[in-house]
Amino acid sequence: MLEFFDPATLDEAVALGGRFGADANFVAGGTDLVIQMRRGRRSPQRLVSLHRLTGLGAIDVGATRVLLGSLATHRAMERHPAFGGALRALVESAEVVGGHQVRNVGTLGGNLCNASPAADLAPILLALDATVRLRGAGGARELALASFLQGPGRTLRAPGEVLEHVSFGAMPPRSGTAFIKFGRRRAMEISLVAVAAAVTLDASGRCTDARIALGAVAPTAIRVREAEGLLRRAAGPRRAARRGTRGVTRLRAPERRAGFVGLSTSPRRNPGGARRGDGGRARVERCHMKITIALTVNGQSYETQVEPSDTLLEVLRDHFGLTGTKTNCLEAECGVCTVLIDGMAVNSCTLLAAQCRGRDVLTIEGLSNGQELHPLQKAFIAHGAVQCGYCIPAMILNAKALLDENPTPDERQIREALAGTLCRCTGYQKIVDAVAAVARGEFAEGGA
Ligand SMILES: Cc1cc2nc3c(=O)[nH]c(=O)nc-3n(C[C@H](O)[C@H](O)[C@H](O)COP(=O)(O)OP(=O)(O)OC[C@H]3O[C@@H](n4cnc5c(N)ncnc54)[C@H](O)[C@@H]3O)c2cc1C
Ligand code: FES
Ligand code: FES
Repeated sequence: MLEFFDPATLDEAVALGGRFGADANFVAGGTDLVIQMRRGRRSPQRLVSLHRLTGLGAIDVGATRVLLGSLATHRAMERHPAFGGALRALVESAEVVGGHQVRNVGTLGGNLCNASPAADLAPILLALDATVRLRGAGGARELALASFLQGPGRTLRAPGEVLEHVSFGAMPPRSGTAFIKFGRRRAMEISLVAVAAAVTLDASGRCTDARIALGAVAPTAIRVREAEGLLRRAAGPRRAARRGTRGVTRLRAPERRAGFVGLSTSPRRNPGGARRGDGGRARVERCHMKITIALTVNGQSYETQVEPSDTLLEVLRDHFGLTGTKTNCLEAECGVCTVLIDGMAVNSCTLLAAQCRGRDVLTIEGLSNGQELHPLQKAFIAHGAVQCGYCIPAMILNAKALLDENPTPDERQIREALAGTLCRCTGYQKIVDAVAAVARGEFAEGGA
């Protein structure tokens, strides 16, 4: 029987980790874990959701040290005002993770603890010489990210430990960072290879420090020390990079294959040591099979009983009959299950319903104002943007989230906001045209 825990504080989460050890399966955004559960790669007995520990989402950019809370979402990093300058690579790596719906809930902590060789945040954090802080029942400890990451799906996180935050020293003056990801398409694609660099120059423009890391070419992200040394000795950057990565090209194919084999066969955690029936202090919600959740959907209050593994998609469709939210891949790949949670676009197929307690959900059924269609709905009809219609609820909700945040997006921003939802019929142009027309005010509420 799967149990669900909903700790309100880090201390409570750590206590649950201490009590259940390897069987305490922490869930942050769930974009990796829920899919692994669905594929049968993980069969947890106990889920410990971290979603109420909002303090762990903090990002603190101090004069000497930068601290990224483990629950910081890709979205939060992408938007952080302090990351525009020398730390630009944090934005560049966060903004290429999945589509909007994945970035709105996927976290830094999940990215590192899942330990995929292709985790996009790992290379730049390695290049920044980051350390991770873990908290377990025995106390807190810090270790270098380089040693924390051990291989595909493997880290030095001890059973039951919570990753609290990641930190690194502030960059000195005349420093810069960059991140480049190479994949087969621009969005919703894991890296085939990624490179991150952090470079510092002296007053004369000579390179005094260079740290370069590669992702997706070895079982973990790796530093490329030879290229770093060549840059520091002021060799031409291109030649240095070519020489420094020569070994990686040879290593890439077999290592990468080994990496992914490792991922798909990672051993199931042994729940044997965990005692059943303990845990659940007064303020920690402990649930057997059914959890009662109350949430608002399209302005209406609902209460329903869910199982810990039920997704929001299942609850919307099966409990509330809101079938406008479509179902397809169930792996956050196609985006047709998009709904807005507190105004944010998410894939409802990978979001646990139990994590949505008290939240405000908008589905396509809640968009029109009585008989009056929403401007986006009118524009989609007028522009012939609908063919089979299966992706359209998601396209419209993604467009609404975009326009609520940025009422005058350009075409690139519209395409980027819609990139997490696939359409097999339209070729996208008419959809983009419809959203652009709404942004120009052509379908204002109450209008044609
Ligand atoms: C469609 C799609 C596209 C994607 N594209 C990319 C991409 O381009 N680049 C990329 O890097 N990733 C990608 N991902 C993977 C994923 O979204 C990221 O790795 C994300 O950052 C995971 O975060 P999460 O909060 O959802 O993790 P979860 O799924 O909640 O957790 C992942 C693992 O980390 C553990 N964990 C989470 N937080 C903690 C913590 N604080 N302490 C201890 N353990 C913890 C969990 O127990 C679990 O084992 C994609 C995923 C999907 C579904
Ligand atoms: S992304 Fe949820 S069904 Fe495809
Ligand atoms: S209109 Fe058919 S999938 Fe988009």
